[in-house]
Amino acid sequence: MRRHLISAADLSRDDALLILDTADELAKISERSIKKLPTLRGRTVVNLFFEDSTRTRISFEAAAKRLSADVINFSAKGSSVSKGESLKDTALTLEAMGADAVVIRHGASGAPHRLAGWVRGSVVNAGDGTHEHPTQALLDAFTMRRRLGSLDGRRVTIVGDVLHSRVARSNVLLLATLGAEVTLVAPPTLLPVSVGSWPCAVSYDLDAVLPKSDVVMMLRVQRERMNAAFFPTEREYSRRYGLDRDRVAKMHDDAIVMHPGPMNRGMEIAAEVADSPRSTIVEQVANGVTTRMAVLYLLLGGANLGGEDQ
Ligand code: CP
Repeated sequence: MRRHLISAADLSRDDALLILDTADELAKISERSIKKLPTLRGRTVVNLFFEDSTRTRISFEAAAKRLSADVINFSAKGSSVSKGESLKDTALTLEAMGADAVVIRHGASGAPHRLAGWVRGSVVNAGDGTHEHPTQALLDAFTMRRRLGSLDGRRVTIVGDVLHSRVARSNVLLLATLGAEVTLVAPPTLLPVSVGSWPCAVSYDLDAVLPKSDVVMMLRVQRERMNAAFFPTEREYSRRYGLDRDRVAKMHDDAIVMHPGPMNRGMEIAAEVADSPRSTIVEQVANGVTTRMAVLYLLLGGANLGGEDQ
């Protein structure tokens, strides 16, 4: 594995399978009464969040603590960033505190890449602008593998606001590496112009794709990133691209429904679908902890995975 995890494209098939297999081992340990391992004792993980997060920030903190690392949580709100301190100076300040790994979420695409040039420790991209969110793709692949087995030849449909979605880009890259066939379904206004070079198919007809899908991953409509009208009305968007009970009835019996969260219930996904047995949304959150444990463990070269509880 490389020293940093900036993009899902950084991962070879062997790297990705190693992370997923390690996460499987860590999930078994997480079922023990005492979940903590000593593997990263004495190492420091800094969580550097310039954008809001619930799932990613909490799960990276839980992952690092379960591996016995020291954890420093930095949130831009309430920090010297409000006084104009730059990303570089913020990073160097944290570096001076001895960070072995920096987990960064930032509104600017490319911020983790810049950070990797300034710090000695490993950099993990926890979401940068509309670019990538590689650990979300890893936890999604982990969840699919647990429900469906190998991803080779599996048909994964990703639906909605692809244009603003770092989750979609990372998933397309990782799922292609793992042998899945990905189809993006979105209105033409919510697809990036570069989508023709992505390793996936594109459709505008959700109803035609659903019966052929093993996985249907719904994306959040990111209204906070929209500075123009990308669809006529929310009602029209839901009618064309929302997943409701009638659409789920077109899926085959074993197909699953995913969403990275946070959801716009009633818009891209009906509440009854989000809460149905097909939905893996809560599992995805739980799997985020073990998958991020695996990433930190492998990047920081932890030892004794099967070691003693403490
Ligand atoms: N899926 C995801 O990244 O959620 P958060 O924004 O809550 O971290």
